[in-house]
Amino acid sequence: MSPVEPVSPPRPTAVVVLAAGEGTRMRSSTPKVLREIAGRTLLGHVVHAAAALNPEQLLVVVGHGRDQVVAHLATLDPEARPVDQVEQLGTGHAVRLALDTLPRVDGVVVVVAADSPLLTSATLADLLARHVLAGAAATVLTAVVSDPTGYGRIIRGEGDEVLSIVEQRDADAQQLEVDEINSGVFAFDAELLVKALKQLGVENSQGEEYLTDVVGLLSAAGHLVLARSVADPLEVLGVNDQAQLAAVGAHLRDRIIGDWQRAGVVVVDPATTWIDATVVLSVDVTLLPGTQLHGATTVAAGVRIGPDSTLRDVVVGESATIIRSHLEGSEIGADASVGPFSYVRPGTVLGQGGRIGAYVETKNARIGAGSKVPHLSYVGDAVIGVGTNIGAATIFVNYDGVAKHHTVVGDQVRIGSDTMLVAPVTIGDGAYTAAGSVITEDVPPGAMAVGRAKQRNIRGWVSRRRARTPSAEAAARSATASQEAQSGSGAPEGESELTSDVTGTAPVDANEGQTE
Ligand code: UD1
Ligand code: CA
Repeated sequence: MSPVEPVSPPRPTAVVVLAAGEGTRMRSSTPKVLREIAGRTLLGHVVHAAAALNPEQLLVVVGHGRDQVVAHLATLDPEARPVDQVEQLGTGHAVRLALDTLPRVDGVVVVVAADSPLLTSATLADLLARHVLAGAAATVLTAVVSDPTGYGRIIRGEGDEVLSIVEQRDADAQQLEVDEINSGVFAFDAELLVKALKQLGVENSQGEEYLTDVVGLLSAAGHLVLARSVADPLEVLGVNDQAQLAAVGAHLRDRIIGDWQRAGVVVVDPATTWIDATVVLSVDVTLLPGTQLHGATTVAAGVRIGPDSTLRDVVVGESATIIRSHLEGSEIGADASVGPFSYVRPGTVLGQGGRIGAYVETKNARIGAGSKVPHLSYVGDAVIGVGTNIGAATIFVNYDGVAKHHTVVGDQVRIGSDTMLVAPVTIGDGAYTAAGSVITEDVPPGAMAVGRAKQRNIRGWVSRRRARTPSAEAAARSATASQEAQSGSGAPEGESELTSDVTGTAPVDANEGQTE
């Protein structure tokens, strides 16, 4: 929205959030106000905006899906109080029930609907401040929209005065032409509101107590009712069906991304980037196309994420890089890198400058500074020290079919490719394991562990057992060429075997299959 002049409003006696309706048009068993966009439920967005007014009481009227909504409300704001509306007899009825729970009613009461998640606390604060400044009985947040269908229409008097609000279903042809609509957000003088609510009738097309009729009653009694038009009509968009939920979600996405762009974040493709309202970013963060940041994710300066990466509840340290990966509940250290194509599961802590490379899955794993798991590995329930290298296709075998077990790998360890570390097991500092080993016993510091069958080469096996195959022919050609080369150059008799068995007989001197 355009800048709102800063005015500090008084503390409202209560904010009443209306959340009892069924949300029939969503056609879903989930209560409407529990639908999520940008990392918060619809109710969460509204409660968040309302809480910024610091009301003495935050009252939430609940009805449909009551138990679920009440349980969720407790997680949003333990101070908020649910008010039961067993039968949904209208918005006026809902507010009346809420005010009945207050020990005293004076000062200002603010009313908001729970299905307007784009509403900002700045707009609420502005409404409240204007209302108090003007000494009005009621102030209605309104919006001028291109399509007012379905909304209550604002019937204005002189200047900003409002005479009444007419619901779509009860409006005549002339009233339907009005393009200024009721957002469903109000500030009221509490005492006048309580009196007017007692006078509400149900003589309307829905047979409900309309909160909007309070406006007509107050105005007719000579009290001042004002309209405060919202700068950005998008803010009062309501969610009534799945299409509106997605549309409002996209607007929220645009707003969040715009805010981060103004704060120095590079968003290469806003249309495919999703950032929850709860995420915290820093300057010089670059988000490549297809990046989704969710929940309590925090990203430090200079980090590059994407393309096509999803992070939920992840803390990313300065200048780290994450490429085409999925991360949850993890910490990625400064200058560390992840991906492409890796799955970093909860409890992963990657140290400074560490690496989780391609096609790696980690879970509940602390990987020390500078340590690397570069390729095709599973690291589960493990602690790895600093400067250690885990060879390609190493598996931390953590599950015996019933229980999970833990593996400890020390500092500066070199785990050979295709090692199975069968937990519980400990690999001492500076130790090596030979490629292809199954390690079931602890390895002392500095030792080379070899846990595999000794290789033997059965010479001539192919020519005997696979005669006349392309392999046999290739082997024969190679043997001939080798003989000719030897007789031609007069080289001494030597090894002409096709396969060396050096790694089987002399593991401590050979390449044990490290990969980096
Ligand atoms: C309401 C307004 C309309 C306004 C629109 C803005 C009334 C009569 N009409 O219409 O002028 O333009 O909002 O979006 O107020 N609720 C309860 N208890 C009830 C009835 C409703 O808690 O008995 C809650 C709903 O859950 C919802 C909110 O009040 O969060 C608004 O109710 P809804 O039925 O959506 O009203 P609209 O038809 O949208
Ligand atoms: Ca509505």
